Amino acid sequence: MTAKAQRYATLLSQALSLAEGESDAIAVMANLSALVHREFGFWWTGFYIVRGGELVLGPFQGPVACMHIAKGRGVCGTSWAEGRTVVVPDVEEFPGHIACSSESRSEIVVPVRQGGRVVAVLDIDSEKLATFDEVDAQWLEKIVEAVPSL
Ligand code: SME
Repeated sequence: MTAKAQRYATLLSQALSLAEGESDAIAVMANLSALVHREFGFWWTGFYIVRGGELVLGPFQGPVACMHIAKGRGVCGTSWAEGRTVVVPDVEEFPGHIACSSESRSEIVVPVRQGGRVVAVLDIDSEKLATFDEVDAQWLEKIVEAVPSL
């Protein structure tokens, strides 16, 4: 197991234990974003929640961010519309990327699926290029399964 995977394995067990017996999705999303953000020191880590046909800003760690994102727009809206994790090594190369912060250079967005539907997305931004890969995708997909029913 790589050093990064090892860190994620520890994070996953922490995520599962903090979500155990907790039914409030907002509370768990708040703690999951803090957990991931503090461990890796990312630029921005947080959730957008599907509400009223768009993505609305949810619990996050980092600087202020866009509050509403339409389906299919930006990396978050693409992840939601296509129901898949999107890894962006260089945000300038992603058509339609929404620049909430000029510091963000690379990004990963992971859908939160419940009952066969995407109900939220986890968005992480880095100030460095090519921060995220398949390892981040695999582990973050497991971590977001800890989010209780929204
Ligand atoms: N860059 C995202 C918008 C959200 S902020 O990064 C927090 C996007 O293109 O969807």
